[in-house]
Amino acid sequence: MCGIVGAVAERNVVNILLEGLKRLEYRGYDSAGVALVDNSQHIQRVRAVGKVQELVNAIEASPVAGTTGIAHTRWATHGSVTEANAHPHKSTNIALVHNGIIENHAPLRDMLKEKGYQFTSDTDTEVMAHLMHHERQSSGSLVEALQKMVKQLDGAYGTVMFDQNDKDTMVAARSGSPLVIGLGFEENFIASDQLALLPVTRRFIFLEEGDVAEVTKTSVRIFDKDGNPVEREEIESDVTHDAGDKGVYRHYMLKEIFEQPISVRNTLEGRLANGTVIDDAFGHNAADVFKDIEHVQIIACGTSYHAGMVARYWLEELAGVACNIEIASEFRYRKSFVPKNAMIVTISQSGETADTLAALRLAKEIGYKSSLTICNVPGSSLVRESDFNFMTRAGAEIGVASTKAFTTQLVSLLMLVLALGKHKNLSAEQQQNIVAALQSLPNKLEESLDLANDIEKLAEEFADKNHSLFLGRGNQYPIAMEGALKLKEISYIHAEAYAAGELKHGPLALIDAEMPIIVVAPNNDLLEKLKSNVEEVRARGGILYVFADKDAQFASDDTMRVLNVSHIDEVVAPILYTIPLQLLSYHVALIKGTDVDQPRNLAKSVTVE
Ligand code: F6R
Repeated sequence: MCGIVGAVAERNVVNILLEGLKRLEYRGYDSAGVALVDNSQHIQRVRAVGKVQELVNAIEASPVAGTTGIAHTRWATHGSVTEANAHPHKSTNIALVHNGIIENHAPLRDMLKEKGYQFTSDTDTEVMAHLMHHERQSSGSLVEALQKMVKQLDGAYGTVMFDQNDKDTMVAARSGSPLVIGLGFEENFIASDQLALLPVTRRFIFLEEGDVAEVTKTSVRIFDKDGNPVEREEIESDVTHDAGDKGVYRHYMLKEIFEQPISVRNTLEGRLANGTVIDDAFGHNAADVFKDIEHVQIIACGTSYHAGMVARYWLEELAGVACNIEIASEFRYRKSFVPKNAMIVTISQSGETADTLAALRLAKEIGYKSSLTICNVPGSSLVRESDFNFMTRAGAEIGVASTKAFTTQLVSLLMLVLALGKHKNLSAEQQQNIVAALQSLPNKLEESLDLANDIEKLAEEFADKNHSLFLGRGNQYPIAMEGALKLKEISYIHAEAYAAGELKHGPLALIDAEMPIIVVAPNNDLLEKLKSNVEEVRARGGILYVFADKDAQFASDDTMRVLNVSHIDEVVAPILYTIPLQLLSYHVALIKGTDVDQPRNLAKSVTVE
């Protein structure tokens, strides 16, 4: 999704802006641009369609410089992918970038046209630039103009702008789209994601919903949604500078797959003691609230939704807590029943997914007793707006296809099962068993990564296929769904997942030699049922690829390729079986030559609905 970087300094900021944009490339975008101002008090703007490298090439061909500047990567919403639609947008002395969608852009455009403004793009953002210019005429300061301007907007925005006549000031506003101010020494920065600014600072202030900020080289002033000056907490980021580097890996996705043993260790660290999860792991006083929870409603999107689906099996089976799960974009637009003593649990890598955030806000409105978010980004909107939060500590996830965020979400959710279950059905012995299984996971994950070479060979058999089917049962059904999502999003092969028991209710009709069937088969009490489903496929000429526990007694032959996964406690098996499916998608995509880290049409952080 769109990215923003801004800087105000003594030095030329063009390289800071370009480096920041490169670090935001993972979010997904289709064009990029910068606008700068220097002592000449004249806006210099360069925009390019395509990768940030196209913008870099354009700037190398015709250099621009400035001590104040803003930059943007655009993911088209209003208007096609053209240079004219790329940001920054200008209105005489104003240059502006924007993430989000302005819903009332059409009436504003008509009003501005009547006042004589001429439009050069099809975007909702250009409306903001002209509106800002209009308000600037009657305002004492840039920040005052911005306060008046945002009052007229409906929709979502994170926006940053400058005025060439006030060249040492940037102003910014946030509503529904995140912004963070980076603090330097006699220079300050702003971005939609702290990752963009890690080469220049680690000191950050996250803007809150409705905030408007004025940033100069030496000062930061923030006003809340009512226009009152406010102090926002400054935090020292513990995200490392090289979080945005690929290291020895060819792709971020591969790096992130291989980071999973360490991310899971980090997620567990300091949170387990005396055979269970520590009381404060979910926040101070969480235990007081958790002991009365009888019902959990999980809300999430995409991969995070799959994590929630696994959690439903765990919560009901182990903790004895009733659990529903729903996709955020559905939950937010329907009337739902709020059970007694219910907690809303959102799951999100980014913490900024628009539908999940809207669903959380709705849940609070309609009477959920408490809210918890399982999230990977500290300071994100979901974290700030939930009563309790539990950070997954996966570290920055750059590849658009979620990998280490998913497995750390699962680990976190199993710790939630402990935290809720200890007040319900979960015996001390069961808690100890879960803790032991969790602690064994990092080593088991290391072992499963050793399958990479075998999976690479297996992937060759997939690359010319157009369709595939993933099967699982019980808590492995969501893992099959996640496997199918990974394959489709990065290799563009159509992939569907089914609970294996559903085969004969329709999908069996699809089986032939051109439809690879991928099966996840741990050694659990559903194994015999799963084996019958596998035989149903074989009898119809299907080619099977089975990831199985070595004691599950599947043997490779002409119609079945078996890859053995280490034996593991059944409870944590969904986490382990995720790894071979991630590796499979990665290697198929590699053979197909797709853009693994930035698959077409997708964005990392979906901040618009
Ligand atoms: C798939 C993927 C997406 C996200 C979804 C939710 O690999 O990454 O399906 O899981 O967009 O995003 P978050 O978790 O940031 O709320």
